[in-house]
Amino acid sequence: MSESQSATTVQVYLGPRSYEIVIDTAATPSFVQHLRTWLEERERGGLVGGTAFVVTDRNVEPHAAAVRKSLESQGWTVGGTTLEPGERSKCLETAARCYEELVELKADRNTVVVAVGGGVVGDLAGFVAATYGRGVPFVQVPTTLLADVDSSVGGKVGINLSKAKNLVGAFHQPLGVFVDTSLLDTLPDREYRCGLAEVVKYGVILDGGFFEFLEKHVEEVNDRKPDVLRAVVARCCRLKADIVEQDEYERGGLRSVLNYGHTFAHAYEALTGYDDLRHGEAVAVGMVRASRLAERRGLVDAKVTERQVELLRAFGLSTELPNNVELSTEAVLDRMRLDKKNVGGRIRFVLPTRMGHVRTFDDVPEEDVRAVLAE
Ligand SMILES: NC(=O)c1ccc[n+]([C@@H]2O[C@H](COP(=O)([O-])OP(=O)(O)OC[C@H]3O[C@@H](n4cnc5c(N)ncnc54)[C@H](O)[C@@H]3O)[C@@H](O)[C@H]2O)c1
Ligand SMILES: [Zn+2]
Repeated sequence: MSESQSATTVQVYLGPRSYEIVIDTAATPSFVQHLRTWLEERERGGLVGGTAFVVTDRNVEPHAAAVRKSLESQGWTVGGTTLEPGERSKCLETAARCYEELVELKADRNTVVVAVGGGVVGDLAGFVAATYGRGVPFVQVPTTLLADVDSSVGGKVGINLSKAKNLVGAFHQPLGVFVDTSLLDTLPDREYRCGLAEVVKYGVILDGGFFEFLEKHVEEVNDRKPDVLRAVVARCCRLKADIVEQDEYERGGLRSVLNYGHTFAHAYEALTGYDDLRHGEAVAVGMVRASRLAERRGLVDAKVTERQVELLRAFGLSTELPNNVELSTEAVLDRMRLDKKNVGGRIRFVLPTRMGHVRTFDDVPEEDVRAVLAE
């Protein structure tokens, strides 16, 4: 296969479910070659194209068109569906529509479901791929920074019920993930910054050196410079893959470190109704609160928190809740008690012990949490 000079790959080792994340720039025409390689490795490839079902949303339709063109250039039959953008599309009704369309396409066990979009498209398409015909091959082409570094790694797929996010789902690893950083060129600033909150998170929880790299490359990151973006995406994917490889089905509790800042964030998001505060924005505030909690517990000094505040702000993220959002300490605490990651009625916190390292705590006194929430 002709590989462009710029491509990086991250290998996710999961035995027979191992796969590769290709990270490149301006490379979508070569998508079909990667897909063919992935299929051949699993002895599923024919010399001519197969059938693909491309799931996308209206905002990224031009990127999906480029993926379809790549497939069609090698004789693939391409069907698909275009969703309304937004979290509401990640539901059973949309999944049902995809099943019907797959039947119409005469999809079989070799039909490849291709997600071209952010986490919403990826989770929904992955769920459809995990369940249609008891599982068909699935490929991700992420188009948001969050999907590049988080939702497309790890095989968690699923949908929302009207009152519960991500409650119905499966683990379904993709055949491969194809990241083209130029697809981020059209991503609105606010969405890009939300992805950066998760990027900063990886540095704090797992890799102090990477945190320092980010501090040194703020401008390039803000300018979405392709080479720096590829390096950032590759590092985050590697860090998440290391965890997923050890705890594929989230049984050992190891994956919980990824929840740094999220105990606070989930409460903020739920209480603000998900509209005023995007997930990444809530995570930015939540990480700083968690770090202050760690200070209060004597785990880190103030410098660790300050560096996070400065980096998040440099990336255009606020580390305080917006002025129009007023949440009482008790309401936030009540909501935190409902977190599904809690064990035995105690709120579970992921707290830093130094830059690049976190631990899980079940024994944080509520008065400390109250104090941090009231700050
Ligand atoms: N499976 C997992 O492990 C995992 C992990 C984290 C988050 N998630 C899920 O991911 C979802 C959030 O993902 P998201 O933040 O990517 O949101 P999203 O998919 O809703 O995308 C955000 C917005 O940006 C638009 N968009 C996407 N790419 C674009 C582009 N290149 N140009 C212009 N517009 C573009 C979308 O249409 C949408 O309006 C949530 O449902 C969350 O539960 C899953
Ligand atoms: Zn998150």
